[in-house]
Amino acid sequence: MPVDLNNERPLAWDSATLDADTVAMLDNLQPNILRAHVREHLSVLFVRFNDVAAGRAFLRWVATTKMKSAREHLREVRDFAAGRRRGTPYVGLGISKAGYRDLGHSVQDVRKFGDPVFRDGMKRRIAEVNDPPVEAWERVYQREIHAVILIGDAEAEPVARLRKEILGRLPESARLLGEERGQGMRNPAGDGIEHFGYVDGRSQPLFLADEVDREPKEHWDPAFPLSNVLVPDPFAPDPSRHHGSYLVFRKLEQNVRAFKEIERDLADALGLSGVDRERAGAMLVGRFKDGTPLTLKPKPGGGTVVNDFTFDGDDGSKCPFSGHVRKTNPRSFGRNVIMARRGQTYGERTDDPWDDSPPEHRPSGEVGLLFMAFNGSLLDQFEFTQQSWADNPDFEVEGTGHDPVIGQGNRDIKVTYPKVWGKPDKSAPQAQVAQTVTMKGGEYFFAPSLAYLRNL
Ligand code: HEM
Repeated sequence: MPVDLNNERPLAWDSATLDADTVAMLDNLQPNILRAHVREHLSVLFVRFNDVAAGRAFLRWVATTKMKSAREHLREVRDFAAGRRRGTPYVGLGISKAGYRDLGHSVQDVRKFGDPVFRDGMKRRIAEVNDPPVEAWERVYQREIHAVILIGDAEAEPVARLRKEILGRLPESARLLGEERGQGMRNPAGDGIEHFGYVDGRSQPLFLADEVDREPKEHWDPAFPLSNVLVPDPFAPDPSRHHGSYLVFRKLEQNVRAFKEIERDLADALGLSGVDRERAGAMLVGRFKDGTPLTLKPKPGGGTVVNDFTFDGDDGSKCPFSGHVRKTNPRSFGRNVIMARRGQTYGERTDDPWDDSPPEHRPSGEVGLLFMAFNGSLLDQFEFTQQSWADNPDFEVEGTGHDPVIGQGNRDIKVTYPKVWGKPDKSAPQAQVAQTVTMKGGEYFFAPSLAYLRNL
């Protein structure tokens, strides 16, 4: 029986009774989609082919010699947890619409991709998500990118070695258009953080039984059907068994200095003092720096980073409706919108992102997030999140304001903040905080099945 992508039950991938179609699916799926792959060190290569045969031969070589399957990745994780050997590096591949055309697929063929956003490409979607004009993007992203190659590992050396090997095999006709380097950052508790200093990557849709089993689920169910991230690969030998995923890539620069000034000014404006000052930033993000959800607690602290919560019963007096995590996952609805985030931070820091040093010591550019997420539909997931939730000032309640972290577009309406956590007293209306995240370019890709790549 073909794999039922809408099955709500998380996948017991390690079970001896797993059916042949699901095994085939996992053997032909790229890693890092159903479960995040370690990518503390990450190299992101943007390539253009220019020759059908050479481009195809190159991708086939990468797939057959350098890429593992989702099932191999899951086995590696299981073996490592059992104290056995460390896993191998991650190599992932995404192809853009222009890339498929360049690899010899006809216009008609490319229409087999159900997602109109993918068929458009990111440059033609700026109006929908309020992105900056293409001329303002970094040069690499202004060009026609055909493929992205992701190389990730816990250590720098294997990434450097693989990068060299893969670039060494790039055909004469092809071009390396550009490259990004991701590098994970952690706070003293060991949790991954982003450049504003907040724990990131905690809340994810989970697809595998072993991951779901480890999570408390009293309030929030982290289990999602495969359809949130998988679609049949239209060009694979057997699309009912061979799947792929739509990948959004966006380079998002963070003005950390400006964000820290905003946190300070908001704390001043609300008259917050001592540890309460931390609440200013938490109102923007929806979590404190240490990951504590603002809807649960007025102050940070408590050990593990909780994800078993909803916003039910919070009328915005605890966590504002605009808070980034509330806007991007309201939790009481919109489960089909949730995508698998697989980004990585970029840029060097000379300061410690989690400490209390003043804004002047913070970078105002050159650092940020290589935002990446896998989707079953870019239209209904990534773009919907950005357009209808983050950029929409009337989301859930009229006059909520933009997402203070990623909202794009005119922030002209005024907003209020709760003065005391959980109490109805609101601040006087004030201008929304300025935009501190700037999109520098990106593209929509499809991460095809290994079956497609091996058969090129
Ligand atoms: C969660 C920061 C861009 C969607 C988070 C969290 C932080 C964060 C600190 C909390 C950690 C967690 O709950 O896992 C940022 C920063 C960004 C950025 C600094 C840009 C530089 C984006 C974009 C989107 C997005 C572009 C989608 C359009 C989400 C989602 C969650 C999240 C869906 C999880 C919410 C939940 O399930 O509770 N982000 N983010 N983020 N972010 Fe972002």
